[in-house]
Amino acid sequence: MINFDFKNPTRVIFGKGTISQLGDTVKEFGGTKVLLHYGGGSIKSNGVYDVAKKSLDDAGLRVTELGGVRPNPRLTLIHEGIEICRSGGINFIIAVGGGSVIDSAKAIGVGVPYDGEVWDFYTGKALPAITLPVATVLTIPAAGSEVSFSSVVTNDDGAFKRPLDINVIYPVFSILDPETTYSLPPYQTACGISDMLTHVIERYFTRVSDVELTDRLCEATMKTIISNAPVVLADPKNYAARSEIMWSGSIAHNNILDTGRIGDWASHMIEHELSAINDVAHGAGLAIIVPAWMRYVYKHDVERFAQFAARVLNIEQNFHNPEITALRGIDALKAFFKSIGMPVSLSEIDIKEESFKSIAEKVRKIDEDKGIVGNFVQLTEADIVEILKLAR
Ligand code: NZQ
Ligand code: ZN
Repeated sequence: MINFDFKNPTRVIFGKGTISQLGDTVKEFGGTKVLLHYGGGSIKSNGVYDVAKKSLDDAGLRVTELGGVRPNPRLTLIHEGIEICRSGGINFIIAVGGGSVIDSAKAIGVGVPYDGEVWDFYTGKALPAITLPVATVLTIPAAGSEVSFSSVVTNDDGAFKRPLDINVIYPVFSILDPETTYSLPPYQTACGISDMLTHVIERYFTRVSDVELTDRLCEATMKTIISNAPVVLADPKNYAARSEIMWSGSIAHNNILDTGRIGDWASHMIEHELSAINDVAHGAGLAIIVPAWMRYVYKHDVERFAQFAARVLNIEQNFHNPEITALRGIDALKAFFKSIGMPVSLSEIDIKEESFKSIAEKVRKIDEDKGIVGNFVQLTEADIVEILKLAR
C-alpha cells in the first residue's frame, strides 16, 4: 500500500423522499440565488423537476433555470451558464440529472470566478482555485460525478473530450433517491452499470502490491453491481436493487476504493475520444474498450487477472495455468456486458478501422497536455491502435 491523503467532502443524503430536503439544505450552505441546471427533459416527465422546484420555492430561494444539457456535455452551454450566473448574481448551482448535467454544472462553477477561458482548466493550462458551490440531485447512477472531484466536458471545436480532476469541484452535497431511477430506459440503466463497474475495474488493476483491503472492497462493489444488474433490468421498480446499484455507483467513484493504490484509467481516456467523435454513451463505449484493454495487458500480471476472474466472476481457478482462469474472466466480463444490452465491438457503433490512428493520436494528445495514458501499463499510440483492433 502506498501513502495516501483521503478526504471526500460531499455530504450524501440518500433514500426515498429526500429531494424535498433540497431547498433547506441549499440554504444551510448559504445559497440564496440559485441556478437550476438540467438536461433534455427526463426530470420533467418523471416528476423530479416538480419536487425539486417546490422544495426550492418553499425555502424562498430565487431560481434561474438552464436546461438543455446534452449527454457528453458541451462547452457552448457552459459558456452560456457562466454568463447567466455572472449577470444574475447567482451564488449556488444545483445540477438535477446525471453525470453530464453535473459535469456541466461543475464547469460553470469554476468558470464564473475565472477571468480566462474555462476550457483552460480542461487542457491543464490553468487550475481552478475556487468555485461557486455545486449540489446535485442524481437521477442516473453511472458516472459517480455526484461524489467525484471530476468533470468531463466536450469542446465542440475539434471534438475533444477532456477531464478536469481537482478537489475544489467536489459537490457540497448530493441527494440520491433511488425512486428517481425507475424511469430510466433499460439502455441507460445498462450504460450506468457498465460505467460504474468500469470505475472499479480501473482501480482494481494496479501495480501496487499489498492492497488487500481495497481489493476486497472493490470485489464486493463489483459483485454487488453484477448481481443487481439483471434484477433492475427485469424489474425497474425494484427499490432494493435500484438502491444497491445507486449506492454502488457512488462508492465506485468517491475515491475510497483508490486509497493506497494507483488505478489505470487508460480505458476511460480511450473511451472519452470515442464519445467525442461518435457521441456514443460513455458506458457503452467502455463495454467495448475494457475487455479489449484487458486482453492486451493481462500478461503483465496474470495472477491479478486470475484473481479478478475467480473472486468477481466466480470462474473456477486453474491453479496449474492461471492464464486460462484470467482469459475466462475476460470472456465472462464481455458476456456480462452483452447480457445487459451493451455493445461489445466497435463495429456495432460504426467506428471503422480508418479512424483508429486518429483516435489514438487524440488520446496521446492528452498525454502531452496532462500526463500518461495508463498506469497498470503505460500505453503508446501504437498500443492504443492495437487495443482498438482487438475491439473491432
Ligand atoms: O437529458 P435528460 O433528458 O435528463 O436524459 C438523460 C440522458 O439522455 C437520461 N436520464 C438521466 N436520468 C434519467 C434519464 N432518463 C430517464 N429517467 C431518468 N431518471 O440519461 C441520459 C444520459 O445522461 P448522462 O448524464 O449523460 O449520463 P451519465 O450519468 O452516464 O453521464 C455521462 C457523462 O459523465 C461523464 C461521461 O464522460 C459522460 O460525459 N463522466 C463523468 C465522470 C465524473 N465527473 O466523475 C466520470 C465518468 O467516468 C464519466 O467520464
Ligand atoms: Zn466513467
